[in-house]
Amino acid sequence: MTAVGIDAIEIWTGKLQLDLPNTFAPAKDQDPGYYTEGLGLETSSFPDTYEDIVTMGANAAKRLMDRKGLVPDDVGRIDVATESAFDNSKPVSTYIAGCLEKVYEGDFHHANKGERKFACVAGTQSIDDAYNWIRAGRNRGRSALVVATDTALYARGDPGEATQGAGAVAMLVSEEPSLVELSTEQGYGSADETDFLKPNQQFPSVDGKRSMQVYLARMREAVEDFESVAWDMHPEDFAYIPFHTPFPGMVRKAGLLGYRHTIRDTEIEDELADEIGRQPREAEYDDREAYEEAIRGYMDELKDTDAYRDWYRRVIEPTLNLSRRVGNWYTGSVHVARASALAHAAENDRDVTGEKLLVGSYGSGAQAEIHAETVQEGWREEIEALSIDDQLERRYDVSYDEYETVHDAHNHEMDRELEEFTTPEGEFVHVGWGRMSERK
Ligand code: CAA
Repeated sequence: MTAVGIDAIEIWTGKLQLDLPNTFAPAKDQDPGYYTEGLGLETSSFPDTYEDIVTMGANAAKRLMDRKGLVPDDVGRIDVATESAFDNSKPVSTYIAGCLEKVYEGDFHHANKGERKFACVAGTQSIDDAYNWIRAGRNRGRSALVVATDTALYARGDPGEATQGAGAVAMLVSEEPSLVELSTEQGYGSADETDFLKPNQQFPSVDGKRSMQVYLARMREAVEDFESVAWDMHPEDFAYIPFHTPFPGMVRKAGLLGYRHTIRDTEIEDELADEIGRQPREAEYDDREAYEEAIRGYMDELKDTDAYRDWYRRVIEPTLNLSRRVGNWYTGSVHVARASALAHAAENDRDVTGEKLLVGSYGSGAQAEIHAETVQEGWREEIEALSIDDQLERRYDVSYDEYETVHDAHNHEMDRELEEFTTPEGEFVHVGWGRMSERK
């Protein structure tokens, strides 16, 4: 069977930077450790006043098309995943296609376009749609362009304000991919939840603590569902495990859950038995509450073992390097985590060709998806072509007052004259909601 997966990826960060421990914490009269140690964040990316989900997505897509030498005729569908859409009818992909048609010969009239919505998991769902389209033989030799783009902003004073971010990830899904092949098996965990909602409103209504519990519950279901169709996993099966990363502190909890689950009935659980006992089995308990209490106790001890710490440092920690610097990008977040892990392998001269990644995607409301990926031969070239480190270095560092101005601007006030903090350089810029972006 021909391999299908992600051939190439490009990342575009919002061009402003908010320094969380040094700018945000003092302005909010908070301990900087809340950001750096508690949430695991250093800085977040913000869009300048001429950037929005269309411009960031189009800029990432253009960079990807240029690098891969593509023209519109090579692309058979454009799927955009976002939870920051400003138009309830026309999909963001049509706006992005319109931008790209300004700079390439030919057009995307032949391409299927859509917009996917299921909170942050929509980016992965769009990849799945593209994968299925190719597997069904409907692509006529063409690739799919998938763009995950978001301005993940919360109302001022909401606890979520600490985890904001903005940026876009463009991915090319095709046959014989250079970066990763996708597994056919997937696992899902899904339930009707009200932890995070945006019913016709700019900023989300969030039950923060509940959202963390729902993330972990759905992720556990998805891991179990994946095992029912794939294989009984072992923690050493994977080079890296990129999870959806609303903030790295959340992934600390998800990583522990994954480790606890995958060491069950392995030699690792046996080796740890003298130190912390074997993990509780549900059949040993009369009721679910007692079992869950016992599992919590086991996890508390597990997280302090050398075995877990070493595994976390090798398999999870490298997925968080970019997230620490950009914050939450909603639909793009798990794809940033994958890029971060592979960049870490390249920097450390580790050849991960043929090794597996386990990708844990999540969207509030709520659904988790687990699938595996196999790293392909061309991964290093693809990852080394990314310019994200350079982009991050070049962000303009906003003061707290400037942050408030920009935050107001993105509260759908972008149609008035606004100060720009950086200068656009050969990129698409916002001209007005519902109007086509221009290239400057
Ligand atoms: N030094 C070190 N650590 C500190 C600290 C300090 N001074 N102060 C607090 N901490 C630690 C806390 O102990 C806590 O650690 P643990 O979780 O390990 O116990 C951590 O910092 C966070 O502190 P709080 O729980 O008190 O934080 P909070 O309640 O103010 O806010 C939040 C956290 C609820 C996640 C909030 O940021 C929020 O609402 N965020 C938006 C929703 C979100 O991201 N949910 C995640 C799951 S849903 C999802 O993933 C979808 C999505 O993208 C939104």
